[in-house]
Amino acid sequence: PLTNNTIIVVLGASGDLAKKKTFPALFGLFKNDGLPKGIKIIGYARTKMDQDEFHKRATSYLKNKNDDPKFETYVNDFKSISSYHNGGYEDDESFQKLNSELEKIEANYKGEEVNRVFYLALPPTVFIPVAEHLKRNCYSKKGVNRIIVEKPFGKDLQSYRELVTKLKAQWTEDETFRIDHYLGKEMVKNILVLRFANMALSSSWDRNSISNVQITFKEPFGTEGRGGYFDEFGIIRDVLQNHLLQVLSILTMESPVSFSAEDIRDEKVKVLRAIAPVERKDTLLGQYVAANGKPGYLDDDTVPKNSNCPTFAATTLWINNPRWEGVPFILKAGKALNEAKVEARIQFKDVTRGIFKDIARNELVIRIQPSEAVYLKLNVKKPGFGMGAFASEMDLTYKRRFEDMHIPEAYESLILDALKGDHSNFVRDDELDVAWKIFTPILHWIEGKGTGNDLPKIHRYPYGSRGPEKLDEFINGYGFKRINAG
Ligand code: BG6
Repeated sequence: PLTNNTIIVVLGASGDLAKKKTFPALFGLFKNDGLPKGIKIIGYARTKMDQDEFHKRATSYLKNKNDDPKFETYVNDFKSISSYHNGGYEDDESFQKLNSELEKIEANYKGEEVNRVFYLALPPTVFIPVAEHLKRNCYSKKGVNRIIVEKPFGKDLQSYRELVTKLKAQWTEDETFRIDHYLGKEMVKNILVLRFANMALSSSWDRNSISNVQITFKEPFGTEGRGGYFDEFGIIRDVLQNHLLQVLSILTMESPVSFSAEDIRDEKVKVLRAIAPVERKDTLLGQYVAANGKPGYLDDDTVPKNSNCPTFAATTLWINNPRWEGVPFILKAGKALNEAKVEARIQFKDVTRGIFKDIARNELVIRIQPSEAVYLKLNVKKPGFGMGAFASEMDLTYKRRFEDMHIPEAYESLILDALKGDHSNFVRDDELDVAWKIFTPILHWIEGKGTGNDLPKIHRYPYGSRGPEKLDEFINGYGFKRINAG
């Protein structure tokens, strides 16, 4: 367990993110002895509620997955280290009161150093004022101060730069932890090991062997209840520009000099800088309509009736460096599709013609969720007298291979890293800058800020389908060949 004394303040404690992700992650760490011994948690929000009500909310999403008989005891212990403090987001007085509360708690540590970690689970509108108030009123002079922030970080390159300039005026890069929760996922972290610890893969990881790469995010539900937020951002900002681009950068970066945060992030930035901004011709957009008894995107009351906001997007990115030139990287994500699945699919080139005709390509699939797995499609001889070949799989499904192993939740792993001060799995300012450069032109086009009246076509697709009908044609256009494993 960590030894540093810490108080974590969760701002936005009455919101959805805190309830669904932050508190369950803190609880998961607490239960497994992952939090520092003298940890205290303060929930902070505008809502007026008493301690009981806060505890009810903060623990409403906790699950007793393994029917642990001590679960209730853990929940009660967790309640005893957490308390609620209500206050505004835009006035000094509220934050001065929060500071007094922090000092009161710190007095119990008998003069030892205490770190303050501020977790901003807040809407973007109050994000900057809160960061400023925290610095002015709640910054500890005795311990380390850290601020954890959540996306969205701006809406395009310009607004991102404005945001980051304001944040940097208060908090140093070293104190700032920008969450992209995909970086906390086991299989995303696994990519580094798969790539750089296996000669069999690293020697064929380039344009000579790889034909195309797809990184796919599919969700079987729509924007239900989140239409207001979603309509302002759209699927590209919600998933592609951050989660999928992060996966792409780890799949394609050069080997870092070490596992240190700066060495890893230097390599990620380098490969991102070699990616050209997404072009219109490399984009396919969609929006779901009512089907199978489910409502369409426009049926959501929080969405404007004429909205052209894409709930599905496929974009192909090109990396202009010697390793990857000419290899299409297809990033695709959609809401209200036929299944829940996130994966990276690396398709190798055809073997040279000669003794085999129509032989399937090799494919390496890294399934990020659900059911973590790595599998490789491989051609083997059909058992028997003949020499016929068929595509089979070498399958490493984690549930079977690592039966009793605990795979931490992404947020658990990230909060722990932030408590340790490890930035490896957080997004650096320059990483985001390039990420916005890649997507800003296409976003402006979609939102009518482009030249002329040539708005993109938004293909309608039924709720529960695989996406727009044009999808297969789009993907095949980049040389992808479907493989049916026998
Ligand atoms: C969030 C997006 O960042 O990621 C959501 O805002 C999306 O729209 C979510 O549903 C997906 O996260 P996960 O961990 O469920 O794959």
